[in-house]
Amino acid sequence: MQENFKFVKAAKEHRFMLLDWLDEPHVRECWDVSEGLKNNIENYTQGNKQIFDFWVAYIDHIPFAQIRTSDALETEPDVFKQYASKTGKTLVLAFVIGNAHYLGKGLATKTLNAFIAFLKTIEPTVDTLIIAPATRNSRAVHVCTKVGFKKVTEFETTNGLSSKGHYDLMVRSLTK
Ligand SMILES: CC(C)(COP(=O)(O)OP(=O)(O)OC[C@H]1O[C@@H](n2cnc3c(N)ncnc32)[C@H](O)[C@@H]1OP(=O)(O)O)[C@@H](O)C(=O)NCCC(=O)NCCS
Repeated sequence: MQENFKFVKAAKEHRFMLLDWLDEPHVRECWDVSEGLKNNIENYTQGNKQIFDFWVAYIDHIPFAQIRTSDALETEPDVFKQYASKTGKTLVLAFVIGNAHYLGKGLATKTLNAFIAFLKTIEPTVDTLIIAPATRNSRAVHVCTKVGFKKVTEFETTNGLSSKGHYDLMVRSLTK
């Protein structure tokens, strides 16, 4: 089936929906959401970007997922910088299906592939993507692998905007 995806930058009308999604049990299970991340969403949806761009993914006109992107050179932890491209821009992605109705339907891979195709049209200087699922989040690791990301290392975070924990750092080149 050909899904009809659309991606828009998060705005004022998305604020409570994005914050509510972070409280969904399936998200809490995988993400220890920091106050800093919530503040980033609050500010972004009021027009004040800090580190991330927050994207809302729609399927058939219904918002169901959030994707956040940031420049690898401006994103903690520093390990992202080591894997940033020397020839183009590198974006770090994080992805969540917030609307539980759309979970377990095989949409994660399709959505990420559609978002990457969309990114290529709006950010042609981006030649590398990084994604960092928690190592224990085998479902997310599986999805990222299917989308063409390859694990290059693992890292720990103990503070900052990312949840504390152990992560796989996965990279996908857009030039191949
Ligand atoms: C990760 C997430 C986006 C996946 O979406 P989903 O709707 O649950 O997954 P889908 O139905 O699209 O596909 C899941 C795939 O993983 C597989 N899978 C499911 N559980 C799995 C597990 N425990 N271990 C490995 N693979 C698993 C499924 O078989 C399916 O594989 P297939 O496409 O080869 O058939 C979603 O669960 C989510 O938003 N989780 C919370 C936030 C999160 O973890 N984000 C990722 C951080 S980058």
